[in-house]
Amino acid sequence: MPGHPSASERRQSVRTGVVWDGLQGVLDAPVAFQERQAHIIDIGGGTGGFAVPLAELGHRVRVIDPSPDALASLDRRAAERGVGDRVTGQQGDLSDLSEVVEADSADLVLCHGVLEVVDDPAAALQQISSVLRSGGHLSLLVAQRHAAVVARAMAGHFQAARELLDGDAQASGRGHRFTQQEVSGLLADAGFEVTLVQAVRVFADLVPGSLLDLEPGAAASLVELERAVASRPEYLPLATQLHVLARA
Ligand SMILES: C[S@@+](CC[C@H](N)C(=O)[O-])C[C@H]1O[C@@H](n2cnc3c(N)ncnc32)[C@H](O)[C@@H]1O
Repeated sequence: MPGHPSASERRQSVRTGVVWDGLQGVLDAPVAFQERQAHIIDIGGGTGGFAVPLAELGHRVRVIDPSPDALASLDRRAAERGVGDRVTGQQGDLSDLSEVVEADSADLVLCHGVLEVVDDPAAALQQISSVLRSGGHLSLLVAQRHAAVVARAMAGHFQAARELLDGDAQASGRGHRFTQQEVSGLLADAGFEVTLVQAVRVFADLVPGSLLDLEPGAAASLVELERAVASRPEYLPLATQLHVLARA
């Protein structure tokens, strides 16, 4: 309920506030989507944490995800929020995106928390590029490697931290983690122009959840702090995730 967010909604806003700011910039840009719905693909969109609010803003969102359970939850959530007619769920995989989405058709593709788990991130970005119309946007959210090294070391997983330090941890079965330079290189190779890079969850994962639950106003203050550092390059290596906006 607006004005009375639950504890889980407060924590969610701390984790995603900066990402929403970036997305809002794309959707509100002059001559963007004021007068027409955007056609949005949310690849690996899961239960609709982004897709459903985007539909509530008036856009058409197609979620493509391999998990039938996630898609069932998505349908329920979209129906509960009254946007079932603007949200479509479909089983599919990022690696085969161009087989289920028409070429050059999407205004915006969300790829949040998925590039980490595919075998070939470079090929996956090519797939996304092929379904975006010229000038369309990619919103990419990926796990950032330096913070992951620190998190593993702090948890006492020193060997895992050491393995991650010098490169890809896919070999250890934990998925890819990316530096900003790696993401920028992959995007350039796939023909994208990077328009924004943001640090996401610089502090959020370090703050005890109980503090956000018990201290009045703490979650809102933390969201403001996350916003204040999101575009400062010196905080990028500390961020749990990188949010990158790029134009096709
Ligand atoms: C970490 S969740 C992120 C969910 C959502 N994008 C978000 O940010 O809230 C990862 C999602 O990717 C989906 N997924 C896993 N492997 C995938 C693949 N190869 N292609 C597309 N989606 C995949 C999972 O089913 C899951 O819904």
